[in-house]
Amino acid sequence: MTRHFLRDDDLSPAEQREVLELAARLKREPFSERPLEGPRSAAVFFDKTSTRTRFSFAAGISELGGAPIIVNAGEAQLGVKESIADTSRVLSRMVSLVAWRTFAHAGLEEMASNSSVPVINALSDDFHPCQILADLQTIREQKGELAGLTAAYLGDAGNNMGHSYLLGFATAGMHIRIAGPEGYHPRADIVADAERIAARTGGSVTILTDPAEAVSGADAVITDTWVSMGHESEKAERVATFGPYRVTAELMSLAAADAVFLHCLPAYREFEVAPEVIDGPQSVVWDEAENRVHAQKALMAWLLKESE
Ligand code: CP
Ligand code: NVA
Repeated sequence: MTRHFLRDDDLSPAEQREVLELAARLKREPFSERPLEGPRSAAVFFDKTSTRTRFSFAAGISELGGAPIIVNAGEAQLGVKESIADTSRVLSRMVSLVAWRTFAHAGLEEMASNSSVPVINALSDDFHPCQILADLQTIREQKGELAGLTAAYLGDAGNNMGHSYLLGFATAGMHIRIAGPEGYHPRADIVADAERIAARTGGSVTILTDPAEAVSGADAVITDTWVSMGHESEKAERVATFGPYRVTAELMSLAAADAVFLHCLPAYREFEVAPEVIDGPQSVVWDEAENRVHAQKALMAWLLKESE
């Protein structure tokens, strides 16, 4: 059966562990998995801009022995002159896997349901699961065992990162606290899914409005832009609302003394995080960015093997 990765909970807890183990090995031995040797091709579509996702997929596909085909918005018939389903059927005859950064998550589901090769979510309006694998790899490098750790995510709690932290961190058995202003909370169905997962893994899910309560004693403090791609017209309103969620040195001082700071990047130092935090000793954002390559290589190798 072809396996896809559209949401963080498309991997079971055991499967997520396997992917993270493989990611750690690929970081030590970058060329030890060559499932795309040939080279076999992999398509990567971008309907939104990207630096990390673009380069990490391109580098990762090459390092797995393959050839990346990067397609930007407006360059393919996809979803405009041809249905997503028809494009998906064609791609299945030509490439070994498809990654897609897009707006509506439903488009990814349509791509996957018509694909005989793995489809990977490279960010949708609802989820960014590849980023969460890199974050888990980074936290694991710093803290060892993930299960039982507490992470606090502050800011736009209802965006793709908020949703993916809920599902991905609950899958890892972590205690995930999400804090954002009223009106920017995660979707109820995703919270319910994360709670179901946490009940099995020993993790927990807490949704808050108070940033200090979220950060108190946490092992990891995380934020993201207040203005995600597609929401640019709401910038003034969001900047006015999210002020109390800015991660400052004062807020970090409420976390565990050895807490790490993560941010998926790109970061806005005038808004969601103060320079002394993101550029300070607790920040692991550069490891986090690098780990996009290792985690996605592991994910691609794993999906290809499981889909054989
Ligand atoms: N974190 C992340 O996905 O970065 P890009 O938008 O640059 O790909
Ligand atoms: N929430 C951000 C993540 C960027 C990597 C966005 O969707 O723009």
